[in-house]
Amino acid sequence: MSDNPPPESFKVAIEHIPKEGRMTRFDAFGERILLANVDGILRAVSDTCTHEDASLSNGALKADTVACPLHGSRFCLRTGLALDEPAELPLKVYPVQVINDEVYLRVPETQ
Ligand code: FES
Repeated sequence: MSDNPPPESFKVAIEHIPKEGRMTRFDAFGERILLANVDGILRAVSDTCTHEDASLSNGALKADTVACPLHGSRFCLRTGLALDEPAELPLKVYPVQVINDEVYLRVPETQ
């Protein structure tokens, strides 16, 4: 693997890198991003629930899902898929790459 940051990437500030079992929120690519640490693996998705304008980083992280604090829909952090109603649309998933202990996000391919 190359030691160069991927093109069109966003370098995550060290204070925004969550400890295991925690989530953080910050802005990147003009959007609010949720970054979660699931058993040492970093997962990044859009922070705004696809049902209404709730910040998922205020919700509950359990395994590789996050539950919305407003109406409880759960989203898979790997795929972005909504697992429960009332949310139906998936979250954007931002690929995460760790290079030399630095964390980079990439723009989703479907964006
Ligand atoms: S705002 Fe998230 S489920 Fe309603």
